[in-house]
Amino acid sequence: MTDSLSIRDNRTGGEQEIAISDDTIRAGDLKQFAVDGERALATYDPGFVNTASCKSAITYIDGEKGILEYRGYPIEQLAENSTYLEVAYLLLNGELPTQEQLDPWVYEVTNHTFVHESLKTFMQGFRHDAHPMSMLNSSVAALSSFYPEANQIKDPEVAELQIIRLIAKMPTLGAFAYRHVQGKPYVYPSNDLSYTANFMSMLWKMSEPEYKPDERLVRALEILFILHADHEQNASANAVRAIGSTQVDPFTAVAGGIGALYGPLHGGANEAVLKMLRRIGDVKNVPGFIEGVKNGDERLMGFGHRVYKNYDPRATIIKKAVDDVFEVTGVNPLLKIAQELEKIALEDEYFVKRKLYPNVDFYSGLIYEALQFPPEMFTVLFAIPRTSGWLAQWKELVNDPEQKIARPKQIYTGYRTRDFVPMNKR
Ligand SMILES: CC(C)(COP(=O)(O)OP(=O)(O)OC[C@H]1O[C@@H](n2cnc3c(N)ncnc32)[C@H](O)[C@@H]1OP(=O)(O)O)[C@@H](O)C(=O)NCCC(=O)NCCS
Repeated sequence: MTDSLSIRDNRTGGEQEIAISDDTIRAGDLKQFAVDGERALATYDPGFVNTASCKSAITYIDGEKGILEYRGYPIEQLAENSTYLEVAYLLLNGELPTQEQLDPWVYEVTNHTFVHESLKTFMQGFRHDAHPMSMLNSSVAALSSFYPEANQIKDPEVAELQIIRLIAKMPTLGAFAYRHVQGKPYVYPSNDLSYTANFMSMLWKMSEPEYKPDERLVRALEILFILHADHEQNASANAVRAIGSTQVDPFTAVAGGIGALYGPLHGGANEAVLKMLRRIGDVKNVPGFIEGVKNGDERLMGFGHRVYKNYDPRATIIKKAVDDVFEVTGVNPLLKIAQELEKIALEDEYFVKRKLYPNVDFYSGLIYEALQFPPEMFTVLFAIPRTSGWLAQWKELVNDPEQKIARPKQIYTGYRTRDFVPMNKR
């Protein structure tokens, strides 16, 4: 078997062979199929359902088998053994850091957590009821105006500094957005706390001189951050890459990623799970609800995934973290309903046949609610850790000689060359 594809163009009878590499053909190779030197063949793929936009060595997913790996390390092992900043380093640099590499990395991120006072003033200008994702999106875009040198994207030292700034300042901006909605004063970062503990301090510290978060909650949040750090070419990573392909600064590119994540099809499903659990209301209503799903009247939110046709490996890890969190916060009564739904669905032929398993959102909303986050904050809690993934994708893009400005083709379906019609003749 040779790695090539033979194609016969029935418009012309022309036959050509094109190369296959990595189980992929190059769309550009199809241009040789043309009619009289025109109408060169192209592909049509809305939503990039079967089109690779890049080569990447960052995150590997096998949806059939339920595998997720960052730089080759299984997500289960990373969630068990590492910290979020260690994982961020891994995503960005390709290898787990040695102690000599980790210490300065943590030091740098910790010491860039403060934002310019004018950025604080900027955030204070938002309405009292502004959505925290909208505030986060705008304030990250605004960061670009504070660091004009950030557009020197080909200078590795400059690029590295912006990466540190973004990872460091995201929790600060996310927490400011949270406090803003509550009408509470913003809390400045505490550089003696870990990345996640500092975030919790900025969210919840009031008048106490020193905020001491429960270590079990710090670890649970750390695990959620690790699980959300990257997920290869999803909609927001694609947005960051598309914007980054214009060679704009990384603040602007990441703001675009936050915009994509804000959409309900991407970042909003865990909120829908909570609404569904509340609507079911009691374990005794679960069988009736499942019947409704099977009849097509309902959707079992938090189940099914475009890529995973097996248990989403992140859901398994989150399920374990739920117990640790509830040990501190007390059990959310919705948990019993979720567990019963999962039990019935995993045994039911409808779900088995369609390979519908719990996804990352099935249990994460329960944890966020137990931590007293309002649903509007759920996507902010996704955006903060995903920043390391977005930046790893951005860095890979900037250093990839094969990448070009992202500019898809279209199939034009409109009119051609019409004479202008004056107003009185329309
Ligand atoms: C995630 C999701 C959009 C993936 O969609 P998809 O890959 O396009 O899969 P499809 O919608 O084609 O579903 C395939 C089949 O499973 C069914 N199905 C998919 N998800 C379902 C769900 N959550 N509940 C009930 N049935 C579901 C579909 O009705 C379809 O059945 P059919 O073959 O009889 O028509 C979809 O599973 C979903 O809506 N899940 C709930 C929302 C959610 O949790 N989203 C978060 C994802 S991280």
